[in-house]
Formats: sequence, C-alpha cells, structure tokens
Amino acid sequence: MSRKIVAGNWKMNKSIAETHALVQELNEMARAWPSDVKVIISPPMLYLTQVAVNVEDNLHVAAQNCHAEKSGAYTGEVSAAQLKSSEINFCILGHSERRQYFGETDASVNAKVKSCLAEGVTPIVCIGELLEERETGKEFTIVEAQLRGGLKGLSSAEIEKCIVAYEPVWAIGTGKTASSDQAQEIHAFIRTKLAELSSQEAADKISILYGGSCKPANSKEIFSKPDVDGGLIGGASLNASDFNALINSY
Ligand code: PGA
Repeated sequence: MSRKIVAGNWKMNKSIAETHALVQELNEMARAWPSDVKVIISPPMLYLTQVAVNVEDNLHVAAQNCHAEKSGAYTGEVSAAQLKSSEINFCILGHSERRQYFGETDASVNAKVKSCLAEGVTPIVCIGELLEERETGKEFTIVEAQLRGGLKGLSSAEIEKCIVAYEPVWAIGTGKTASSDQAQEIHAFIRTKLAELSSQEAADKISILYGGSCKPANSKEIFSKPDVDGGLIGGASLNASDFNALINSY
C-alpha cells in the first residue's frame, strides 16, 4: 500500500457555488492523477455531504474537526459518528489553528482521535512547533509530546490507522516553508517515535504529511524525501491548477 497522500485543507473559505465549481474542476483532473496517490479535500463542514456525493471515486473528503462524544447536548458540534453516517471517512484533528483559537489540547485531540477510530473515520493528526520553540531548539520535544499526547492509549493497530501531519506553525500561511532537509529530519524522528509507540512494521505503513506553505514550486523537492509521504495543503488547495500540480508533482 502506498503512503502517498495529498490533502487540501480549505479552512473557512468558499461559498457553496465556489465549492461546487472547484469540485467540478478537480473531478475533471482526477482521471489523470497517479493511482498511488490518495487525494483528500477538506471543505467547510457545512458543505461536506454535498461534496461527498459529487466527487470522483479517487477524490476523498475530510472534515476539519469533530466532537469527541458520539451524540448529545453539544450545540454547534458534529460527531465522528455523524461524519461516518454521512460517508465522511477522514477528519483533520488538532490543526494548529484549532489549538491556537479554539483551545484544542493534546488531551482533546486524543479523545477525538479515539472517537474517530471507534467510528472508522481516519484521523489526520496535526502536530508542529511554534517559531519560538524552533528558535530555542525545542522542536523535537514539542513534536514528540504532541504525538504521544494525541495518540495516548491507542493500540499498535489503531496507531497504524492514523495519518500524521507535521505542520511547523511558523510555516503555515506565512510563505515560509521548512527546507526539505528540515522536513525530512522531523519526519524521520516522528517515524522513529511512531515505531516506539507501535512497531516498526506499523510505523513504516503510516503516512506522515508535511504542511506549511507547500506549493507547486517546492512540493517536488519536499515530497522527494523518504519520510515525507505528501502534504497537507492550505492556500494552494483553493486553486484547482495549483492543487493538481501538487498532486502531479509526485
Ligand atoms: P498553508 O496551510 O499551506 O496555507 O500554509 C497549511 C495548513 O494549515 O494545513
């Protein structure tokens, strides 16, 4: 099984008309995508079901968040069970914007990861250090703590079902990208830690995506690294030709 994934995080962008237009453009491009690359898009929650019924078979749909409980009095929230019942099979969790603006912690991410796995929704677990943490040499400590916290209590078989996204916060939406060597260094470290938490065999199967100002101009170089299995793309996923170029840069 290939580990290659290109996932687009649309964040809180696009109207429904713009969403349909972009999905249509991607559907037309989908036939030419490499068969060993899994392509995922993550439009706003409101549009997920409409998008899910309109995408080509090789275009998958993810939510950008979910609630850890299955159901109940949680006004404004959507559960992993509800995602699954709407045939949404992937969910981004612990994105740095969720951590920064919505109080997401490793513990809350962990509860959501468990809930997704229980429902058969694949979690895309985001981790990554802040600029000041990198400047003070703490990136490995932070990334390891987020990984261990987010995956706490999972069996080896459950860890194997997760996708991990390394997104240095200083590179998200800033135009600054980690160099391919910086990405490889952390990705190799993450894989070592995943092997400690599960097994080498499991760790070798887990996709570790890079995120942070990834675009067609730098994706080929970044994706060429042995432990970089693709990207979680923000800005460049909002434009069909850029996203298509990213997918085809493999
Ligand atoms: P960016 O965002 O590609 O716009 O930097 C990446 C992300 O936040 O997932």
